[in-house]
Amino acid sequence: MTLVSKDILKAAEILSREELVAIPTETVYGLAGNIYSDTAIKKIFDLKKRPFFNPLIVHIHSVDQIMELATHFPEKAQLLAKAFWPGSLTLILKKQPTVPDLITAGNDTVGIRIPQHELTLELLRNLPFPLAAPSANPFTYISPTTAQHVKSYFDGELEMILDGGDCENGIESTIVGFENGEPVVYRLGSISLEDITAIAGPVILKNNKEQAPNAPGMLEKHYAPRTKTFLVENIAAFIALHPDKKIGLLLHSMDHAHFKVSEIIYLSKIGDLKEAASELYNAMHQLDQLDLDVIVAHRLPDKGLGKSINDRLERATK
Ligand code: TXA
Ligand code: MG
Repeated sequence: MTLVSKDILKAAEILSREELVAIPTETVYGLAGNIYSDTAIKKIFDLKKRPFFNPLIVHIHSVDQIMELATHFPEKAQLLAKAFWPGSLTLILKKQPTVPDLITAGNDTVGIRIPQHELTLELLRNLPFPLAAPSANPFTYISPTTAQHVKSYFDGELEMILDGGDCENGIESTIVGFENGEPVVYRLGSISLEDITAIAGPVILKNNKEQAPNAPGMLEKHYAPRTKTFLVENIAAFIALHPDKKIGLLLHSMDHAHFKVSEIIYLSKIGDLKEAASELYNAMHQLDQLDLDVIVAHRLPDKGLGKSINDRLERATK
């Protein structure tokens, strides 16, 4: 049985034994281990069935820890950190030689973030080492936004889930690196592209596999329910074409309320993008349990967090 609890000292004790604990963050739950323990890090890859070429994000509690991990902290990175940390921003920086290659998949860079969740920040303050934490789901599956999601994936295989309630933002951090001093967004996420640009100026977007084959592990198939999933502009047309299918709809506002299908989930009744992002994975988890033939998601307006949500939905359809 996996312990589900808010006990930070217990979590710290387990992590100090080179074991894993699932931790809450404001984005999604992470599967955490000591970055300096090869044993713990190998367990993370093992449990997730994640390939070793996909690097892990390092979680810290204070910006003072940056120079322990990175050799340079470029000015634009500092501005972004100041604007968004603690929060849903991961910075890719040149790594110190002491950061293990297992964490960075042999790259000379390391992904770092300060999460915005009081329990996890307190845990990090109680530990003498940072935590590597990918999302706490098996490789390519939907990321967990509740302790229950993590339990459903790893019950019995994991000592503890630190229960921090529902994740407030609900999709992963936005990943920003630097190429020739210019900011590059490698993964759209909880902080909109517009918000990043407002602080860092124009950015290059390399959010997909074709453009960035060995940059962030932005593998095309990801965040995927087991039920076949479609992302469409025209829900009515899809339904008309598939009269015999058990369909679950994922809608982002009440504007489209009159469909006759097996199930409808509204990401936000009023079309609020922040609320939609926070509900997205929970809704996908729910629909995935209903034994539907297909999940059909309505494409969101391609701006702000809508762009990030569309990105996750696109990857869920692969
Ligand atoms: O919100 C989040 O970022 C969550 C929470 C737990 O912090 N974590 C998360 O981790 O989404 P994960 O492992 O599911 O996704 C991390 C992404 C991967 O696509 C990985 O390839 C990229 O970050 N990444 C990590 N280190 C990198 C590096 N040095 N260079 C390029 N990409 C990196
Ligand atoms: Mg992930």
